[in-house]
Amino acid sequence: MGDNNIKVTIPWGKEYDIWFHSDFGMLSDYVKDLGFSGKRICIISDDNVYPLYGDTVTKELSKITEDVTSIIFKAGEENKNLDTVKEIYKGLIGYKLDRKDLVVALGGGVVGDMAGFAAATYLRGIDFIQIPTTLLSCTDSSIGGKTGVDLDEFKNMVGAFHMPRMVYMNVSTLKSLSEAEFASGMGEVLKHGLIKDAVYYEWLINNFSEINDRDPGILSDMIRTSCMIKAGVVERDPKEMGERALLNFGHTIGHAIEKYMDFGLRHGECVALGSIAASYISYRRQYLTTEEYYEIRDMFVPFGLPITLPDDADRNRILEYTKADKKMQGGKIRFILLKGIGQAYIETDVTDEEILDGIGELIINDEGD
Ligand SMILES: NC(=O)c1ccc[n+]([C@@H]2O[C@H](COP(=O)([O-])OP(=O)(O)OC[C@H]3O[C@@H](n4cnc5c(N)ncnc54)[C@H](O)[C@@H]3O)[C@@H](O)[C@H]2O)c1
Ligand SMILES: [Zn+2]
Repeated sequence: MGDNNIKVTIPWGKEYDIWFHSDFGMLSDYVKDLGFSGKRICIISDDNVYPLYGDTVTKELSKITEDVTSIIFKAGEENKNLDTVKEIYKGLIGYKLDRKDLVVALGGGVVGDMAGFAAATYLRGIDFIQIPTTLLSCTDSSIGGKTGVDLDEFKNMVGAFHMPRMVYMNVSTLKSLSEAEFASGMGEVLKHGLIKDAVYYEWLINNFSEINDRDPGILSDMIRTSCMIKAGVVERDPKEMGERALLNFGHTIGHAIEKYMDFGLRHGECVALGSIAASYISYRRQYLTTEEYYEIRDMFVPFGLPITLPDDADRNRILEYTKADKKMQGGKIRFILLKGIGQAYIETDVTDEEILDGIGELIINDEGD
């Protein structure tokens, strides 16, 4: 690992580093190297994360500039919307940030997506860096430049591609993460193995107890591997013309479940459920063996992820939401299925019946209709 970083290079925009550390000690050096000494720096964070890490990050950044400010919004997916973005814009205007200044996203995927979107659009785009503090954002959402917000019940409906200038991970911040939030991140991590790397998937399964104990060595190996998978996909297909869509495995039905449950389930929990449904469809098409399908389903359990929906869940409504999701091409849903563990592919001819069956697999006592 060269030794603390991975470089991400995309055809447009600047190359950027993903740094792995266990404290914030190197942050100001790197930000200085990017040319932001003496610039205005605004930290955007939520009201859970800022009280934990805001002071330290501010202190570090104050080594290179006198002008470190912050904008803090209320935590939660329900605030990932344009109203909050408007508050952020007002804050940035108030602090007089101009195009040479820097936004710092300090928090999980909600902070990263929203601060990134504000940075992408404020003054037609200013630079930002990601400091992810959840397992989900360390392994997935902070990399790749997808930013955006939800619009009413439509997930990530409004957004922009805007690459961060760097991603700085202080993996020790994961110590304060609740078990449920840690599990949610594992939804995306297992996804990386399922879509791209069977060996990694088996490694995750074999190490579940060390992972759940957050053993620092295992955790940093895992985060690094997931970042390499994600960064590789993003480099080859930054604007999702093809391969990048594979990262949506579990998300088509997953997003529909997120919406159906009124965002009462976490993102990674819905990804787990959506992955099971998509795996079931793959199994029905005989692309997965019975053993493979049940392994995929049951192996979410030791990581604290759900594998069922409530008995009274309405699979027809979930189907409707699935079809309303934005990942359609020419009126057809672009579905991600598996041809074996580690080998995802894009399928455009999944039928309503298959989707209903996939969702039905999640509803144990469903009588069907
Ligand atoms: N842009 C992308 O490519 C991409 C990819 C995957 C997911 N996402 C998005 O990411 C979001 C989910 O991200 P998330 O799971 O990180 O959610 P989140 O940002 O809401 O964080 C989860 C909770 O943990 C708290 N938290 C964060 N860091 C903490 C820490 N170190 N200690 C204690 N508490 C902490 C937060 O305040 C929040 O309450 C969704 O909106 C999803 O759409 C985006
Ligand atoms: Zn996701």
